[in-house]
Amino acid sequence: QAYNEKESLYIALNFAKDFFVQNLQTEEGRAIGLSYFKERGFSQAIIDKFDLGYTLDGWDHLLKAAKAAGHSEEILLKAGLILQKEGDPSRVYDRFRGRVTFTIHNLGGKPIGFGARILTQDKKQPKYINSPETDVYHKSDVLYGMFQAKKSIREKDNCYLVEGYTDVVSLHLSGIENVVASSGTSLTENQIKLIKRFTDNVTVLFDGDSAGIKASLRGIDMLLEGGLNVKAVVFPDGDDPDSYSRKVGSQAFTDYLEKHAQDFIAFKIGLHAEEAANDPIKRADLIKQVVHSLSKIDDPITRAVYVRQSASLLEIDEDIIQIELNKIILKVQ
Ligand code: GTP
Ligand code: MN
Ligand code: MN
Ligand code: MN
Ligand code: MN
Repeated sequence: QAYNEKESLYIALNFAKDFFVQNLQTEEGRAIGLSYFKERGFSQAIIDKFDLGYTLDGWDHLLKAAKAAGHSEEILLKAGLILQKEGDPSRVYDRFRGRVTFTIHNLGGKPIGFGARILTQDKKQPKYINSPETDVYHKSDVLYGMFQAKKSIREKDNCYLVEGYTDVVSLHLSGIENVVASSGTSLTENQIKLIKRFTDNVTVLFDGDSAGIKASLRGIDMLLEGGLNVKAVVFPDGDDPDSYSRKVGSQAFTDYLEKHAQDFIAFKIGLHAEEAANDPIKRADLIKQVVHSLSKIDDPITRAVYVRQSASLLEIDEDIIQIELNKIILKVQ
């Protein structure tokens, strides 16, 4: 055996990547996959850059090709590329069928997994099917797009954080390369550490739906806890970074980011300001929420700056915030 098992997984995943990419050029791939990407405004250059692909409709296209190329069923299973039939594990079939694929790379650019999007409106099927956790794909350690983004994140000293695969691809199309996606799950400590290897500054771009914003608020506190400086941009209702950039074009999109990037504290306050204005209970609740975020900031000087800013934005005495803050900080210590 020339390779150890992990090496075999990488080779199988790379084979699958090539296979999915080449599928885009088949008759079926062109008619369904490529035309889908073109409809979304994805150029051939961006398809190449992100190793976007297509999985043919059928149960064993990848399985057959991979076996013919010498990859064992055991390795394909461990790579998350095939599945065992329920009740009859000796029968295996392709995990991804009739979907467009987003290749997930590790930091060195090797394929470690895939996100696969459905092309129909079939509500009975999940919109995305993703690779499972494997020996080479630890989901909690990975951010989609980091391989393509890391150089730009360092240069710009800022990282845009979006929800979805297509948001990452679309921002590149708009000339913004310092962007990664959390892929719809909440952030992990390791993902935050990964960002910190390249920058201390994060700008979170929220999908313009309240569910997305509420879910991401927890993420903001985690980013603060990780010692990052956090800004946030919200898009108009119903839009995400991808749809909005396509709607307004790349120049207007870039302008929008600059104009609407809010410091996290102003963002949090703005989110609740209207309802809190005339309601003392909601107002108290908002103050508590802000204090909670402030308590996540370790650096005392940074914290002091934010305390002052919050007091002014909330139109409240600085001491009150400080007293509430001390309650939390002293409890933790
Ligand atoms: P488009 O609808 O193609 O524009 O994708 P999107 O990225 O905007 O999708 P959405 O905002 O609904 O979800 C954000 C991210 O969450 C996606 O990119 C996926 O990573 C993930 N996600 C969305 N739907 C599913 C799902 O059905 N299953 C799983 N496992 N992940 C999903
Ligand atoms: Mn791990
Ligand atoms: Mn969403
Ligand atoms: Mn979205
Ligand atoms: Mn979208």
